[in-house]
Order: sequence, then C-alpha cells, then structure tokens
Amino acid sequence: MENSSSTYIELENQYGAHNYHPLPVVLQQGLGIWLTDVEGKRYLDFLSAYSAVNQGHCHPAILGALTEQAQKLTLTSRAFHNDQLGPYESFMCKVFGFDRLLPMNTGVEGGETAVKLARKWAYQVKGVPENQARILFAEHNFWGRTLAAVSSSSDPDSFGNFGPFMPGFSLIPYNDLSALEAELKDPNVAAFMVEPIQGEAGVVVPDEGYLKGVRALCSQYNVLFIADEVQTGLGRTGKMLACDHEGVKPDVLILGKALSGGVLPVSAVLASSEVMNTLQPGQHGSTFGGNPLACAVAKKAIEVLLDEKMIENAEQRGQQFRQGLAQMNSNLIRVIRGKGLLNAVEIVPFGDNRTAYDVCKALMKNGLLAKQTHQHIIRFAPPLVIDSAQIEQALAIIEQTLIEVQKPGYFD
Ligand SMILES: Cc1ncc(COP(=O)(O)O)c(C=O)c1O
Repeated sequence: MENSSSTYIELENQYGAHNYHPLPVVLQQGLGIWLTDVEGKRYLDFLSAYSAVNQGHCHPAILGALTEQAQKLTLTSRAFHNDQLGPYESFMCKVFGFDRLLPMNTGVEGGETAVKLARKWAYQVKGVPENQARILFAEHNFWGRTLAAVSSSSDPDSFGNFGPFMPGFSLIPYNDLSALEAELKDPNVAAFMVEPIQGEAGVVVPDEGYLKGVRALCSQYNVLFIADEVQTGLGRTGKMLACDHEGVKPDVLILGKALSGGVLPVSAVLASSEVMNTLQPGQHGSTFGGNPLACAVAKKAIEVLLDEKMIENAEQRGQQFRQGLAQMNSNLIRVIRGKGLLNAVEIVPFGDNRTAYDVCKALMKNGLLAKQTHQHIIRFAPPLVIDSAQIEQALAIIEQTLIEVQKPGYFD
C-alpha cells in the first residue's frame, strides 16, 4: 500500500532534526514547473527550491548529461585530473568573462571561498598587516549556515547561541553608498560581499545605481567587490547575472543553486588571476568540488539556460506576473517588488494574527507552492521555463486565495 503524506511527515517529525518548518506537502515527482505529491495532486512550483531549479524540474538535457557522465566517472577527487573539469572551467570563464574558476559544492562554500580569497589577496597583494583584514557585509544578508556565514548575519535566528563569532566581519546598511564609503576608508578592508538583490531578506531590490556605486567605490579604495549571485544569478532576475542590470562586473562572483539545475550541489567562485593565484596547492579545496559528474551537469545547465532563451523568458514573464499582481483585486497586497522571476509580495497583517505562512498553506491547497520569508512576505519564483498561460493560471490561483483567506471562518 502507498504511504500517505502524513506517514512521511510523521517519520520526519520523529527521526529528523527540526531545523525546518516545511509546508505539509510531500512531493514525489517534478517536471518543468510542475510538482506532484504522494497523493497524486499537482502543484505549480513557485519556489524552484529557492531558485536552484531555474531550468525546471528534471530537465531532460541536464538529466541526459547526468546519466551519461554517471556511467563513466563520478568522482576522482582533485588528487588527479579528470576530463570534465578543464572544459567546464574554460566554458564558464568565457561565458562569465573571468580568468579563473574555483569549483565547490554548496552556495555557502562558495561564500566561504570568496571570503578566504579576499583575505589572502588582502595580505599578499594589497598589503594589509597580518590578521587585520576586514570583510564588509550588508545588513540582512543571507549566504548560508556555516559559522562564518552566521557570523556576518543580522538575523538573531541565524546567529543566536552559535557564538563565538568570526572576527574581522562588519555589517553596514544595504543600499547605502555613504555607509560603504565611510568603511572603505579603512585601508584594512579587503572586500565588500553583497547580494545584488537580497533574496532571503524578502527580495529587497536596491535603488538603481547602487551596484554601479559599489563598483566605483570598491575600485577607488582598492577593495574587492564580491557579488553573491547564488540566488540572483543564472537568469533568475531576467539577466544572466543581476549585476548585468547595471552593467557592472564584480571582482569575485559566487554562483550556486541553479548552476546544476537543481540536480546536484554545485557552486563556483570566479575571479581574476590576480585574486585566484594567491591560492597555492593545499590551501583550499573540497573532495567533491570539481568532480566530473558536477562539471558535466553544470556545463549543460548553463547551456540550456542560454539555448532555450530562459533568461529572456524570465524577463518577459516577470513583467507579466508583476503587472498581474498590480491589477489584482485584493486589499491584502501591500507591496509588490522584484526583477525577472524573483518576486515578492508583502501582505498586510490580517485576521487573527495570520501571516504569510497561512497564505502559503492556502495557496498550497489551491495548487500553488510558494514560501513565506519573514512574517508577511511571500516570494514567488517559478522555474524560468514557465509560459504566459501558466503565469495567468498562477495569478488566478493567487487572486482567488487572497479572497478566500479573508472570508470569515476560513481558518476554523
Ligand atoms: C544569496 C545566497 N547565498 C548563499 C546561499 C547558500 O547556499 P546553500 O544553501 O547552497 O549553501 C543562499 C541560500 O539560500 C543564498 O540565497
């Protein structure tokens, strides 16, 4: 007999760590923008695994690359060369316009790598005295859960009771060039690491000109501009990189999530030779980083983004989606923001202390999966393969749900 959702949820509750609070849906299959649960109900995916599945679930070409490579060679470690890493690195450097790539697995490892590179560059190239290098981060940043990442967090849920924290990290307000310049005057600053749009903070889009300003200031003060494009990159915002909206190139670029189309954990850091060549053998690495399976999958994941015009589609469908939200007949929507298919809606508090989580549960019942971020923000980020009719279908579900949740007795 098939198990029901509640059986699986109960197992996780009993045997798993309670470090997540998922919606009560148990998914079994995915294809394109669709997900199916263990009871056979279909949902439009409006989270895309936090933007890791930009290319759509189980993209046939990516699965083709996966299964072909998996039958040949999956892991060698970097003790030896493999025939996939070099071609992948050269492909990526050409596509993104950098000299060198360092392969890792998760997004947070990409962030760690970028911070280590910045410190090394500060000591070896910039001339910062030993152990004095500082890295600046923006308030409300999110780049993962390691001790370094939570050391730069302004969210008490992330850092609370995990101290002591990494020294040499400072927070400055996001979207504030004067605050950045004030800190950059300290010659010990090695880098400013920033998301071009803050994803987990609630899709916070900075003022136009902010990224250009960051670029100019970092160049002026000889500080590395590290762009964390783990969530915003790879077509999500309607350009290959969110930095492309302002035509700026960071010194260090971090990619992850959709770099494998959601198939494997694959991340990468790209930089100039000046920065990357500060690392010598034995000073950084990972058993799985640069494995042939990941390289074959990642190369294909970028090729399909480009070949199937997913980036252009993200831009057009994003505009359609935000327009549809703006025309929606609902007094629950307070703010709509986003770029491409990385969007968020802030809702007004309603009912008996109802939150965005309650709305997401109601959306789920109506066949659309989205996730709240913070109390009153819902992020809408479908795979970039969504078409115009499916956007209309999603808008209809959202509109109907926002009406339903306000009806007396809905939550009884
Ligand atoms: C901007 C950004 N950086 C880094 C990360 C961390 O990625 P991972 O969960 O793969 O470690 C995330 C995850 O949400 C992210 O949004």
